[in-house]
Amino acid sequence: MTATEPVDLTVADLHPALGDPALTSMNFLNEVSERYPAAVSLAAGRPYEEFFDLAAVHRHLDTFHRHLTDDLGHSPEQARRLLLQYGRTKGIVHQLIARNLAVDEQITVDPEAVVVTVGCQEAMFLVLRALRAGPEDVLLAVAPTYVGLTGAARLVDLPVWPVAGGPSGVDVADLSVQVRRARAAGLRPRACYVMPDFANPSGVSISAEDRRRLLTLAAEEDLLLLEDNPYGLFHSADGPRPPTLKALDTGRRVVYLGSFAKTVLPGARVGYVVADQRVAGPDGRVGPLADQLAMIKSMVTVNTSPIAQAVIGGRLLENGCSLVAANIRERSAYTRNLRHLVTGLRRRFPGRAAVRWTVPAGGFFVVVTVPFPVDDALLDRSARDYGVLWTPMAHFYDDTAPVCALRLSVSAVTPQQIDVGLDRLTALITDEVARRAG
Ligand SMILES: Cc1ncc(COP(=O)(O)O)c(C=O)c1O
Repeated sequence: MTATEPVDLTVADLHPALGDPALTSMNFLNEVSERYPAAVSLAAGRPYEEFFDLAAVHRHLDTFHRHLTDDLGHSPEQARRLLLQYGRTKGIVHQLIARNLAVDEQITVDPEAVVVTVGCQEAMFLVLRALRAGPEDVLLAVAPTYVGLTGAARLVDLPVWPVAGGPSGVDVADLSVQVRRARAAGLRPRACYVMPDFANPSGVSISAEDRRRLLTLAAEEDLLLLEDNPYGLFHSADGPRPPTLKALDTGRRVVYLGSFAKTVLPGARVGYVVADQRVAGPDGRVGPLADQLAMIKSMVTVNTSPIAQAVIGGRLLENGCSLVAANIRERSAYTRNLRHLVTGLRRRFPGRAAVRWTVPAGGFFVVVTVPFPVDDALLDRSARDYGVLWTPMAHFYDDTAPVCALRLSVSAVTPQQIDVGLDRLTALITDEVARRAG
């Protein structure tokens, strides 16, 4: 449609978030990859599709169905209703999620504090919607920030106030400064959004010591921490992972956001939130924040598809509720790819201080810093003329300042594709440096 055609509405008549770069970002990136299907994509943070198995989906469903009848004693009618009818707003796999968190993360939670959601994205939306009580409320978020969080915050009119991330994943001293600065400006910081493990987009992880410092600061400043952990299982190194914030949380400071998109199936669209904070109602009755989130959910998606939950539940049951056990081959493929990418960068840019990159201890993402601003026009040119896709880091900052960095993802490619993609990226960077010098 052209601008001269008659229109019934303009974006200016709609919610101000529509048209905001945070909301258009994902569509733009998808459109670029659709326009250049032959390009090697080091952009997509999607899981590796070769592991997708339709037959396993049927088996998981059967496993969960058997669990309902054989373990929980449901009659065939009850089991059928549970799977096919509208259902409990907080979900039907909450007990299994609580077991999974105990087995894999040493997190002890009351299943009643779990809300099963339509992906982690809905979980973020519910939490932000609940926390935004008035115009003075702001959300602190470690920058660069996952764009899905920024977009959700926009939709509930909650400003996002950046906190320095830096090489350690979060600058705890800066968090303290920003809390005070926001309060001095008459604002009320409600929470700080963090991704302690292999963050999207930075790839960086927060040390165990800084996790403890974050919790101490949150208690001192009366802040909640929103811990988003979709990539934690995909650590490359042998040995134990640092504990999650939630595992260290003795004061109910942490709202934990989980996703099964990377550990089971993105197409199931199942995630969850653990919200065990005690909320006093107007009648004086006290219940978990999860109950308030469920109230919002009942007006957004009503309940998460029980069929999709059953698929997740079946996968959990088949693996003793351990997603660590269920993801051994995935973890090894992502680890192999991450190492391959970092080695490939080292080989292609030896001793060139102008091109630098992060070396994450796991996860999907590496950030490459280059000596020129990286924008959407360059991405378009990269796709068209060089046949390689990546993500401009500018998409993860909530301002318009130029950013000289791009994000590479290793999750949806083979080592051979990484080689081809890196050759093409190297050509782009070399040409761009020469073009700007000449
Ligand atoms: C950091 C982060 N949080 C949340 C999500 C959304 O997860 P889901 O697919 O479960 O909605 C993603 C997806 O890529 C992510 O990277």
